[in-house]
Amino acid sequence: MTTWLNMSLQDGASPIMEQLIFFHDHTLMIMLMIITTVMYMMTTLLWNKHTSRFMLEGQLIETTWTIAPAIILVFIAMPSLRLLYLMDEIHNPTMTLKAVGHQWYWSYEYSDFTKLEFDSYMIPQEENQASTFRLLDTDNRIVLPMNSPIRLVVTAADVLHSWTIPSLGVKTDATPGRLNQVSFSINHPGILYGQCSEICGANHSFMPITIESVSANHFINMSLKPKSIIS
Ligand code: CUA
Repeated sequence: MTTWLNMSLQDGASPIMEQLIFFHDHTLMIMLMIITTVMYMMTTLLWNKHTSRFMLEGQLIETTWTIAPAIILVFIAMPSLRLLYLMDEIHNPTMTLKAVGHQWYWSYEYSDFTKLEFDSYMIPQEENQASTFRLLDTDNRIVLPMNSPIRLVVTAADVLHSWTIPSLGVKTDATPGRLNQVSFSINHPGILYGQCSEICGANHSFMPITIESVSANHFINMSLKPKSIIS
């Protein structure tokens, strides 16, 4: 999660987020190269006294400064597209979680198990314990197995919401009448925090998402009843 003065991205808790951070840094390095070059050129332009009354065109330099930025853009576009398609991939998910956005809380359905649906409300500040984080903790947390590919389907019951966990690199709009799909796997055990990130009304800030990432063994031993065994 984010703590005070953390201006950068949160640490990645999923392979996709790690790749997204690498891509972010890569793009920033290219930006830094361009900024330093342009700043250098602008300052030297201010102070030099070179003039030429007869230089009206320069075919070579104009071709060069048109093609060079195009090549630089390719170096950003290629890894960007790679990530885009990687994020869209569903790798044989071990389970599916359904998230439904409401004004102003999330409700979850573990579709692979029987009778496993619950609402997840923010813990109000008055009841906030020292062990919980302000505006981030919920009364019912999502429990997910780590190191397992998980499919998440997202929708909404009233208005637009957005299911967003920065450390997982997941940000999916919850739209009434639509079902969006993402997949992720979590790298380590622990608690992950997220918030709704679509302006959805007065209490938009108060519908956080909390995930408890546990080992696959622990998850199986939670005595959930798989649907396939029941029917
Ligand atoms: Cu739901 Cu903002």
